[in-house]
This record gives sequence, structure tokens and C-alpha cells, in this order.
Amino acid sequence: MDESVPNRLPDGDTPYVELRNVVRTYRMGSTEVPALRGVSLEVAAGEFVVVLGVSGSGKSTLLHLVGGLDRPNAGSIRCGRYQLEALDTRGRSHYRRAMVGFVFQSFYLLPHLTARQNVEVGLLFRGVYGRQARQRASQVLEWVGLGHRLEHRPSQLSAGEQQRVALARAIVHQPPLLLADEPTASLDRTNATALLELLQNLRRQLPMTVIMVTHDEALVRPFADRAIRLRDGQVVPEA
Ligand SMILES: Nc1ncnc2c1ncn2[C@@H]1O[C@H](COP(=O)(O)OP(=O)(O)O)[C@@H](O)[C@H]1O
Ligand SMILES: [Mg+2]
Repeated sequence: MDESVPNRLPDGDTPYVELRNVVRTYRMGSTEVPALRGVSLEVAAGEFVVVLGVSGSGKSTLLHLVGGLDRPNAGSIRCGRYQLEALDTRGRSHYRRAMVGFVFQSFYLLPHLTARQNVEVGLLFRGVYGRQARQRASQVLEWVGLGHRLEHRPSQLSAGEQQRVALARAIVHQPPLLLADEPTASLDRTNATALLELLQNLRRQLPMTVIMVTHDEALVRPFADRAIRLRDGQVVPEA
């Protein structure tokens, strides 16, 4: 990660993800909690960007907006050909299915399903079933180094293995955009590093843009192309 690289891309590059003056305020009764206060940023196709900032700085809010899980109060968010603030609930759901893979701190695996079946879930709600889904899920589990764990249930897997199953589920439909919110926060150092190495390798082989949120700068620094820093809901300008 090169600290000298600015948040704006060189002229001529078309950003893949582009936010302009994005505002998100949560309303709690009569109080307003400003989570994002005018965020503008760009991410190029194929970039691995890490979003840094202390707890409460707006990182998850930002990721939810880019992932079409939430809407801004003001500003514009474009991802590929999708103008997100213009989409209704159905439009956002279509966008998520077509474009986005999510990984979170919690693995959210279904406990009664095997690793392979958990990954197949990523295909079922995209209309891929049966033998095709089974083969595809097995293949992607091999990519993440779990070809020997296809029939294991989450309780029979280590935390590191469970997060790799979650990663396989997130990328099984080959989304152009992978969004990861503190994906290493539930892992020890060794497994966290292994997950980042895996992600780096996958990204070399898949045409995928990655935005990862973390508060652990030291861990992720060697793996990301660029860092965007949030503080109190705003992007900290590069020094
Ligand atoms: N659903 C919500 N309702 C009210 N306030 C929220 C909600 N989600 C987040 N916030 C507030 O918005 C701010 C940013 O939160 P968040 O995006 O989760 O930050 P981070 O992921 O960097 O910890 C915090 O002050 C947080 O308390
Ligand atoms: Mg968060």
C-alpha cells in the first residue's frame, strides 16, 4: 500500500465505484446521528482498496451503501453501470445479486448445511441449482483450499476454514465487486494473514474489485493497493 497515492485516480481512468458528496444520517428518535458527512471517493476496476478508520468512523455505513443494502440521504453512488441512489428496493436487490459479494466479520454459515451446501446457497438464489451448483461450489471451495472439507459442517471446521467457506460463497457467482467488512476480525493473526493472502491470489485470477473495511491497518497494509481513511464520517485527505 503506497501512502503517496491519492484518493483520486489519474485522469483518463474511469472509476468503477464513484461516490459524490454522500451523506448518510441515522435518525434515532429526535436525534440525528451523522454517519457519513459528504464522502467523495473513487475506486478503479480491479483495485484492492482498504477503508481504514476507528470504530464509529462510518466504515460499515459506507460499505452498506456501496453494496446496495442501504440508501444515502444525499449524494450519488455509481457502481459500474448502476446509479445506486436511483434504485428502489427491487432494483437494489437485482444490483446485489448481479454485482456484489459480501463477507462479514461473522461468517453467517448455516449450521445444518455442509461447506459445499453453504456455498451452493450463493447460487440457489441466483437460479443455479442441482449438479451445476454442486460442481461450481466444489470448484470454488478448491480455490480457497477447502477441497478436502466439502462435506464438513461449520462446527467441524476451524474459524479460518469457516471464513474461507464464507468467502467461497461470496465469490461463487463471480461478482465484479467484493465487499468485506472486518473479515479478519474474528480470526487469529495466522488465519487472518492466510485469508488476506488467499484474497490476493484470487484477485490475480478473477476480474474483481475489492473494498475491505478494517481497523487493523498493520495487518492489511501489505495486501492492499491503496488506503482510504475515514474520520468522523469524512475522508481524511492524503497528506
Ligand atoms: N442503524 C444505526 N442507527 C443509528 N446509528 C447508527 C446505525 N448504524 C451506525 N450508526 C452510527 O453511525 C456511526 C458510524 O457507524 P458505522 O458505519 O457502523 O462505523 P464503523 O463501521 O466505522 O464502526 C456511528 O456513530 C454509529 O453509532
Ligand atoms: Mg463497522
